[in-house]
Amino acid sequence: MAIRTIREEGDEILKKISKPVEKVDDKIRTLVQDMIETMHKFNGVGLAAVQVGVLKRILVIHTDYEKEDPIVVINPEIIKQNGAQTVEEGCLSFPNKFAKVVRPEEIIVEGLNENGESVKIKGKGLLAQALSHEIDHLNGEVFVDKILPGTLEYINPEE
Ligand code: NI
Repeated sequence: MAIRTIREEGDEILKKISKPVEKVDDKIRTLVQDMIETMHKFNGVGLAAVQVGVLKRILVIHTDYEKEDPIVVINPEIIKQNGAQTVEEGCLSFPNKFAKVVRPEEIIVEGLNENGESVKIKGKGLLAQALSHEIDHLNGEVFVDKILPGTLEYINPEE
């Protein structure tokens, strides 16, 4: 496993649409493991493959490091979403920016896991937020495009 370089604000790849994974093979599994390791290294809640420079429809999410295992979804499709929540959000590709955005309160996503098996993820609250955020990445969308006016904060960890 390896920590991969996270693409950050200004990198044009973040605006590109990721392509479906055609075959879940060992190369994909290595990428997934690297994505999980990279997400953990930077204490992220989620990461999309495009954020490590790979335009494939893969996301990993880990909302609770203590109590849950990471979630992997390959070729995720939103099959249902309900409600709305206004939430504070950040992104590993925008390391110093935080802002409020509106996300669905509940979301159901289908896709494949790293073994190529079908999975259905039902998310509420933070998990719904993370699924929505990461699927946006796969469509070339980033959270700073949808922030609520007046809620952007810059945080410099050096200060
Ligand atoms: Ni992000």
